Amino acid sequence: MGMDRIHPQPREGGLSRHLQQSLGDDLPPFWIPALRRCSQLLVPHFYDSLKTEVEDTFRDILRESLGDETVSAGNAMVTHSCRTIFDCFIRTLLARNGGTLRICTNSVHFGSFYRILKAMNLEDGVDIDFYEIDLQLDDWSLSTDSVSASTLKSCDVVLCMHLFGVPLDQTVLFELGHKFGIPVVEDCVQSGSLYSHYKGHPLSDVCFWSGGLDKTPSCFGGGFGFFKATKHGDDLYQSTLSMLSSFDVDSWSDRFQSLLNQLLHLMLAKNYCFSLNLVGYVGAAVMRQQVKWSELQLSVRRNKAIAPFQHRKSVYLRRPSIYQFLSIRHGLNKTVYSKYAAEEIAKRDLLLKCIPTECRSLLFPWMTPKVVAAMRANEGISEFLWVFAANGDRKALLDHLDESRWISMINTTWVHNEGTALEDNVGRKICDGLTYLPNLCQLDERQIRKLADDLVQYAKDQELVELARCSGPDGRHDIMARDGDEDDAN
Ligand SMILES: Cc1ncc(COP(=O)(O)O)c(C=O)c1O
Repeated sequence: MGMDRIHPQPREGGLSRHLQQSLGDDLPPFWIPALRRCSQLLVPHFYDSLKTEVEDTFRDILRESLGDETVSAGNAMVTHSCRTIFDCFIRTLLARNGGTLRICTNSVHFGSFYRILKAMNLEDGVDIDFYEIDLQLDDWSLSTDSVSASTLKSCDVVLCMHLFGVPLDQTVLFELGHKFGIPVVEDCVQSGSLYSHYKGHPLSDVCFWSGGLDKTPSCFGGGFGFFKATKHGDDLYQSTLSMLSSFDVDSWSDRFQSLLNQLLHLMLAKNYCFSLNLVGYVGAAVMRQQVKWSELQLSVRRNKAIAPFQHRKSVYLRRPSIYQFLSIRHGLNKTVYSKYAAEEIAKRDLLLKCIPTECRSLLFPWMTPKVVAAMRANEGISEFLWVFAANGDRKALLDHLDESRWISMINTTWVHNEGTALEDNVGRKICDGLTYLPNLCQLDERQIRKLADDLVQYAKDQELVELARCSGPDGRHDIMARDGDEDDAN
């Protein structure tokens, strides 16, 4: 506990210089130092009280599931984004291990983290590698049988990452990591949001959630880290805190630029102001129908300048500004989340009900009855709705959706490890076949029924059910024989 007080310093001559310039000699000179003194006293005080307030609210949210004892004993931290926390604990572990790091995680990686690690790996004296546990192709659960306890023991950190808005069962990784005394870090960003009932595994040392533009709470950026009162939890907390103190506070112009960037992305992702249609259909018209939406979106998504999850250090190695804390406070205190959670359950049930079971397990392989029941009980809120091209031909899926007037996006969230040691990397097949659909909560009943019909039609056109039926016990592997259809946009 006992967070150090870290204060943003008022910029040299900020307000007082502006006043002096605009009022010139009319301003009595004694006001200048007085104003400067006031801002020096008030700004840090306001900053501290906002920071404490958002951390306390975060703790209260955790308390509901984790209980008062666990929450009071641990440390809560609210940062610029999860990337800040991720970068700090990776650097801590690298420093501790003399530059080498072996990470045990599953074979579907979060793109920004993967790129952060890749950039670190290029630094002199750094050597990062993975021990990857693959997923099963038929239901995307963790291939528990393939976990080698002795290989896991040689790792320096276990990174348990939840996928696709559902808590992924990774019990074996938590247990082995804990047993061997390896730090266990849990990325809960995609476990159904901070407002779901799942608040991390009891054996994790650190858990974090994001307040990104499309996350819940939606704060246009924010990382919520909870460091448990364990040896690793305390160590990682102390070192993250000391690294944070060396970062600059975001200025208002940084914040403004980041808001513009995120807003642009949100408009595209959610089709606000008809923006996606404008890009897709006007673009196609300009190019005289020579460009397909599937191709156009690939080039838009490849343009990292507008990506919301920037992995340039200068963007995320920052302390939140007062403006960001104000957004975080607003996001944390919204009361609409349970309404969205209930809406999502009802709409998911409707979508699944409209799709025959055999098609459903090909389009949404991870949504097994068990997982759907867990999602219902968890009352989570997902960022996206995903659909999967089970025959590896994602272009056919994109074109079908395009022709049926759906705005889809190829997956840019999840990536596979290019240097993987896995022979038949299911993680790669998953990443290459995934496509975003509009978030369910944005669709009304008529649209959900149409989406279901269009997806069933796609499955029929591609003869997915017949292919899966004919290809015997290894059906999924056989129909996925073809590799990814287009270059990964990540
Ligand atoms: C699984 C996962 N981890 C981490 C993050 C990063 O969150 P942030 O934008 O707060 O850095 C995301 C963002 O989408 C994510 O999906």
